[in-house]
Amino acid sequence: MVLNLQKDISLRPYNTFGIDVKSKFFVGVQSTDELKAVLKQHQRAQLLILGGGSNLLLTQDFEGLTIRIETRGIEIVLEDDRSARVKVAAGENWHDFVLWCLENDLGGVENLALIPGSVGAAPIQNIGAYGIELREVFESCEALSIKTGQIKIFNKADCQFGYRNSIFKNALKGQYIITSAQFNLTKAPHQVNTSYRVLSEKLVAKSLDIQSIAKAVIEIRSDKLPNTSQIGNSGSFFKNPVISLKEFIELQQQYPEIPHYPDQGGKIKIPAAWLIESIGYKGYRKNDAGVHQNQALVLVNYGNASGAEINKLALQIRGKVLESFAIELEFEVNIL
Ligand code: EPU
Repeated sequence: MVLNLQKDISLRPYNTFGIDVKSKFFVGVQSTDELKAVLKQHQRAQLLILGGGSNLLLTQDFEGLTIRIETRGIEIVLEDDRSARVKVAAGENWHDFVLWCLENDLGGVENLALIPGSVGAAPIQNIGAYGIELREVFESCEALSIKTGQIKIFNKADCQFGYRNSIFKNALKGQYIITSAQFNLTKAPHQVNTSYRVLSEKLVAKSLDIQSIAKAVIEIRSDKLPNTSQIGNSGSFFKNPVISLKEFIELQQQYPEIPHYPDQGGKIKIPAAWLIESIGYKGYRKNDAGVHQNQALVLVNYGNASGAEINKLALQIRGKVLESFAIELEFEVNIL
């Protein structure tokens, strides 16, 4: 097996923030066997596993080995008249997979159109948008144990999905590399989800197919969110905080207009974007690091910001939000 191990490579093309740091070693793998071989050859190396590099802020050069997952393949593994189970290689681009589903008239992921990143990274943070989370269509994933080199299958319950969360971000962090995932999708007639207000407002027709839902989602996202190929960013930088009803009532007395949504267990979810906008940071810019002018939850790199500058801005925002609202924002993006 010939592996193209490179040295002192800039990671700029491989992270959507467009941060220019170097990795001491770098290799792309096109099959699980290649991945196994790399791990075997570099058992003691410090590893950075990259999918689409869309949920990552790199703040310094990386002295270890970056492995980029470049596996491909989408296949139906089980089907009947009403549904299909599809197995997708971890290295497939998430949005390309959504487009494949639309072309094949398979429903379930249309609300998740245009989310940057790879299929293998999607379960790690249980990606979600416009009323749908990945866990709703997720069947299972295969993952390689870095320690033993063995493949393990994780079903939905094993993954312990939560809001932008899973076991791969917690108890098993850094221990497994997802190599493929399986999703349960519907055949027509589909049941579409238009519960998210911005989405239902955009949709005028009464009978809706999955293609029109995806089109509306793509339009909304393109209006609000910067295109990673033009302005470096990592989607939502912070998670939306969830607070107790008591905390919320106190906050609402001070800010009667505060937007809020009911969450699990009687708790309340507050849009972090509103908190950030309220402290005056929407559209803020210092050098090339900034807050997007259409969506305060998105930090952007206008060109040559360093990861440290973006990180500094994120900490500054977190500090100001804490001061003003006594709410501690959590980062959605992984900082390295
Ligand atoms: N808002 C503001 N200022 C802004 C933007 C939004 O005050 O600049 C307030 C408004 O009240 C608005 C509310 O926030 O009604 C919600 O805004 P939006 O619908 O844009 O959603 P979000 O909560 O900011 C979340 C996800 C997004 C996802 C959208 C749509 C998180 C961390 N982010 O954003 O996910 O696309 O909902 O479902 O949950 C991502 O994770 O990278 C991501 C983009």
